[in-house]
Amino acid sequence: MTTPSADAALIVESLEIAAEAGDLTAAVYARLFYEQPEMAPLFWRDTDNAIKGEMLARVFDAIIDFVGERRYADKLIQCEVVTHDGYDVPPVVFATFFGVVAAEMRTACGRRWTAEMQAAWERLLADLDFYVQNPGHVVTSS
Ligand code: HEM
Repeated sequence: MTTPSADAALIVESLEIAAEAGDLTAAVYARLFYEQPEMAPLFWRDTDNAIKGEMLARVFDAIIDFVGERRYADKLIQCEVVTHDGYDVPPVVFATFFGVVAAEMRTACGRRWTAEMQAAWERLLADLDFYVQNPGHVVTSS
């Protein structure tokens, strides 16, 4: 059985390999807008892609925290689901977005993507989805 820390190592490794391909902002948002075209106009203020880049950087940091120490990422995701409602982003798009990030990691890793990474990302997506679906759920620390 794969332990959570083994998953964390696989996720971080895939993020590191993907980062070698350079800035993934354009690729991630191209895939997102292909899957959810109605999201593109919501970034009308973002004429230089700075918001998209900043958002993606926060998402990568949050994923690393989420699979690791989980000091803030679970609460951040819950908060962002609520605050993004103000940008007309429905919660369901968060699930799409995380799936898009996973798909782009796979593409960017190319031949270095492994079945273990795939399985770790699938578990991560399912875990993230809980916080997207339950923004009001209070997580108690053990
Ligand atoms: C955990 C997931 C997410 C995090 C941490 C996050 C974080 C952020 C942050 C920090 C900003 C402000 C960036 C800045 O002003 O420099 C932002 C803006 C924005 N986000 Fe997200 N975001 C997330 C998911 C999403 C998703 C799934 C969408 C759907 C496409 C989305 C759409 C937007 C839009 C449209 C803006 C721009 C609002 C504006 O015009 O100021 N976000 N996000």
